[in-house]
Amino acid sequence: MPNEGSYEAALRRSNQIQDDIAAGNASKYTMLTGDRPTGRLHLGHYFGTLVERVRLQDLGIKTNIIIADYQVITDRDTTEHIQDNVYNMVMDYLACGIDPAKTMIFTHSAVPAENQLMLPFLSLVSEAELQRNPTVKAEMEASGHSLTGLLLTYPVHQACDILFCKGNIVPVGRDQLPHIEVTAKIARRFNERYGKVFPDVAGLLTSTPLIPGLDGRKMSKSYGNAISISMTEQETAKLIKKSRTDSERFITFDPDNRPGVSALLTTAGICLDRDPIELAAEIGNGGAGQLKKMVTEAVNGYFAPIRERRHELEGDLDYIKDVLHDGNRRANEIAEKTLAEVREAMGMVY
Ligand code: TRP
Repeated sequence: MPNEGSYEAALRRSNQIQDDIAAGNASKYTMLTGDRPTGRLHLGHYFGTLVERVRLQDLGIKTNIIIADYQVITDRDTTEHIQDNVYNMVMDYLACGIDPAKTMIFTHSAVPAENQLMLPFLSLVSEAELQRNPTVKAEMEASGHSLTGLLLTYPVHQACDILFCKGNIVPVGRDQLPHIEVTAKIARRFNERYGKVFPDVAGLLTSTPLIPGLDGRKMSKSYGNAISISMTEQETAKLIKKSRTDSERFITFDPDNRPGVSALLTTAGICLDRDPIELAAEIGNGGAGQLKKMVTEAVNGYFAPIRERRHELEGDLDYIKDVLHDGNRRANEIAEKTLAEVREAMGMVY
């Protein structure tokens, strides 16, 4: 966690940028964000970031999404299912409203010049700085894997992701702010040493409340508490049905003492755009059965058109591949141009 002072400063900066965008200055901004292709995207991704990406895309900001395939092996020993995960990630994006004519979608592994930025960038950070990144430490502990060199240095790799396309805004959750600070620092140090090539980078903090998993814990596929965008209505109903509530029949919204019941109310509330406290009052003595019915209908209702679109995309893998190939081609053009500027700034022109 960054200290309060730097969080306050990041929030102020983020609000200024949101105001500037709202004032009609969208064209000043280039967004870069992404996901690791380790499985299907779920409601946490959808309400936490996908909605915001689509909003920024439709405001006319240059939007870029990286499918971070090299990041999969930061803390895993296998790339099993990676191709399937990448194709499905593109389907999730498009179904949720990402428009490939406006947003560039690409993968790490297809853009060599982007990865090559890693060499000069690594020279701009010290081992001590890498070691004290709180997010990297937390991720290593959560994964139960030893600290690989790639996990230790992946914040630098994210700087390559963001800076190769001169990204200056990155939508992030609070826990990701240390990464943005690494990127901003690398950009500044490069510019100081070799001349200005890279922009100032800021995190765009989203205001959406964190949507918990069905049991009240952090939403994660590995906890079995996440509803995927790609699930069918029946799979959704089944997962909600087997989620754990408690023995109290009367439904109240009380996240601290009733995590399961409250997570269900939050989920229904966000899909229905209603206050979970009001929903609880409406159910009252109806108990967990009625609550689960409401959540199932709310989720399935909200995602019906998205899932219908996704279903169509599933039948057109050639189109999905075209989207990715086009994104990769454009990303390569941009990366080669930036790498040429970097070589020029460093005097490596022969
Ligand atoms: N680390 C992000 C995740 O876990 C994915 C990612 C890769 C990313 N490169 C990035 C996010 C650059 C923001 C900026 O999903």
